[in-house]
This record gives sequence, C-alpha cells and structure tokens, in this order.
Amino acid sequence: MPSVPCLFIRQSRILLPSGEFLVGDVQIRGREIVQVAHELPASDCDKEIDALGLTLLPGAIDPQVHFREPGLEHKEDLFTASCACAKGGVTSFLEMPNTRPLTTTQEALDDKLSRAANKCLVNYGFFIGATADNLPSLLAAHPTPGIKIFMGSMHGPLLVDGEATIEAIFAQGERLIAVHAEDQSRINQRRQEFAGVSDPAIHSQIQDDRAALIATQRVLNLSKKYQRRLHILHLSTAVEADLLRLDKPSWVTAEVTPQHLFLNTSAYEKIGTLAQMNPPLRQPHDNQVLWQALKDGVIDFIATDHAPHTLAEKAQTYPNSPSGMPGVETSLPLMLTAAIEGRCTVAQVSNWMSTAVAKAYNIPKKGAIAPGYDADLVLVDLNNYRPVLREQLLTKCGWSPFEGWNLTGWPIFTIVGGQIVYERGQINTAVRGTALSFDLNAPLLLPSVL
Ligand code: DOR
Repeated sequence: MPSVPCLFIRQSRILLPSGEFLVGDVQIRGREIVQVAHELPASDCDKEIDALGLTLLPGAIDPQVHFREPGLEHKEDLFTASCACAKGGVTSFLEMPNTRPLTTTQEALDDKLSRAANKCLVNYGFFIGATADNLPSLLAAHPTPGIKIFMGSMHGPLLVDGEATIEAIFAQGERLIAVHAEDQSRINQRRQEFAGVSDPAIHSQIQDDRAALIATQRVLNLSKKYQRRLHILHLSTAVEADLLRLDKPSWVTAEVTPQHLFLNTSAYEKIGTLAQMNPPLRQPHDNQVLWQALKDGVIDFIATDHAPHTLAEKAQTYPNSPSGMPGVETSLPLMLTAAIEGRCTVAQVSNWMSTAVAKAYNIPKKGAIAPGYDADLVLVDLNNYRPVLREQLLTKCGWSPFEGWNLTGWPIFTIVGGQIVYERGQINTAVRGTALSFDLNAPLLLPSVL
C-alpha cells in the first residue's frame, strides 16, 4: 500500500489547460495531481474510478455565495451548503459577509474559517465586508479574497454608499475590491414612486438598469483614479456590459450569474417572488448582450450569488419577500447544457467557472488539470439529461428557480483535495475542504478567451 492515499481516474475525457480534450488516465497522490497521460502504467492506487464516457473538468470555483452561517442557519449552513456544492461539482467557494454577525472584523473572519474547518466539505474563502468605519480591518484582514462593498440593496452597516467612504476604501491599500453595484439613492427614489405595488415584477423596475449603471460607472471611475483592483459582482444589464466593452482597464474584472444569463422578467409570471433577486432579473435583450459579453471576454467569469431563503420567507408579499435564489447545485449543469446545445464550448464553461476565477483571485494551484495542481475535480456526464427536481436538492432552502429544467452535464463524481466527496448521488460527509489562499503578489493574469 502506498503511504499517501492514491486515486486513479481511468480513461475519462480530460479537459487539458490548452482547452483540448485527451482520453486518458489521471493519477492523484494525496491532494495533488501527479500524472496526466493517454495511458499510465497499471496503478498501485488504493482507489480507482473507471471513468470511460465521463468528462473530467477542474472543479468549479464559485466566487460569490451567501451561505448564511453564522446567524441565519435556518436558511442554510456551511454543512448543507457544502453538500450542495459537492453535488453541483463546486469544489471551492468565496463567501460574502452579510452573515450575523457581519464579517467586518478579523475576529468574525476567524470564526467563519474555524466553522468551515469543522464542517465544510469543499474549499472555502471569506470576503471581509466594508462598513463606514472599518478601514483598518479591511486593510489587515487575512486570509481573504478581498473587500466586499454593498453600494446598494443592503441594510445596516454593510450599506456603504457615501461618496467619501467609498473613495477612502479605494484610495488605501491594494487588495481586490468586489462591488455590488446598485445605486441606493436611485433605489430609494424608485421605491417611493412604486410604493404600494405588490406585484414582484415591479422589483426589476424599482432597482432598474439605471441604478446599476450609475453605481458601476462610479466604481469604475474610482478604480481608474487609484488604479485599484476592482471586481464587479453579478453584472446584470446590457448597458453595463456596453460600458465595460468600451472602457475596461486590465485591472478590472466582472462576473455574471446563470440567472442573469438564462432568466429574465418573464420568470415573475411563472415563479413569482422566487425570481426576486438583487440585482434583479432583466429583459431578454440583456440576456443576449450578457452572453455575448461573456463570450467576448468583457465579462470574465461566472458566479451563482447562491442566496437561499426559505419558501415561507419567499411566500411573503412583495416587497416583504427577501431577494435571492440558490444556485450552486445547478450552475455547472446549466452552463454545460448551454455548451452541448451549441451556445458556447465546454472549454469556455470550464474557463468561466474555474480557471479564470482562480487566476482573477490569485488562488494558487487551482483551476487546471495538470501535474502539480490540486486534485479538485469533477467528472460529468454530458450524455444524459435529467430534470432539476425539488426533492433531490441538498440546499437547506429546498427549492430552485430552475425546477423542471431538463439539464445534462450533471456531476457523477466530485473530488476535493484528492478525496471523493460525491459519487453517484451519495455525499461522503467525512471529507473536509481546506482554506483557500490568495497570492497577493501575483499579477492579474486572465487567460485569453478560448
Ligand atoms: O438577491 C440577493 N440576495 N443579492 C445579494 O446580493 C444578497 C443576497 C442575500 O444575501 O440574500
């Protein structure tokens, strides 16, 4: 028996860093991929997966999730969320600071890291949240992918919409700033205009394109003024994509959610408040422009903004119903289905959901299948379609905006740090992920569009 655990994946269709596929073998020792070849010598591994017919991709890295622990565990917790990740082929996530207490101090960040070490089945990183008065914590926090600023759509101390406060954050330090870009004063004004309307479809008119564009333009200007690394979270409108197409410095990145690619305001008729999220769903035209921007590299990668709320919470009448929808279990099959149906390629999907994320956040040894990289992998079946079924979901909130959608590319095996965490419908709850590291000195290096 080898001293370090060894896993052998036989004859899968491996996505190589070049974007080409190789039918071959992968050997993993401990946490690391050690060999990738068309045919490796007979293995002495303690575990072998016969993967003929399956496609091997780098595990997805979801760079924007809300996993609710601590403080809001009735919606989700790090255990249930990470089980959902394992089932969805998401091997790492970056989580947002709007938990209770808010993640605005090193103490709160350390608490999340120790909770995750105890119960999280996949790898994890946690953003530090900006308030009007925690600049020293923002500068010193470690380890973190970056600073999260909510310019709109948030209550309490995490709402940072004062011009001077935002500028002070951009002016000091170097680490990445990730922004939820919606203009709160525009939202407040529109709320008054539409007061009393309880149709959830009004949500997209209250938090309209203009609210998003004003905020995105503002942070783009600040990022240019200070040459500060900026990431624009969940870009939702054609007008913002057009702006970035004309004017996107090399140190700025942007992401889009599957919801903003696949759903639009027509969803309110079908699923009501389940379609309510921030930034809101837009028009079919926005879906098209966002797709094109993603394919052209104007948008760099995909995040789910997994934001679970219970069905009872969602059953409240608008505007009392909370905004947000879950996503980690469906994102990879949704995107792979789009690839199989010809909207993009599987290599592009993997770039948007893993490689480009690892590069943008400088996460070492993630996002590729090559010797020396971490063995965070997903084996998907691109040949079978299955519907999204509520009763099969592992997220604690127990619903999906994509219920009934017939998708392919479902994970069959998910591997985290060389250990099988998900296998044909079964979760191995003994597996634990590790804390992600972020190389602060690495240059921003995004792969060219595949
Ligand atoms: O719709 C949303 N819900 N958007 C966010 O940015 C926050 C999230 C939540 O935490 O519920």
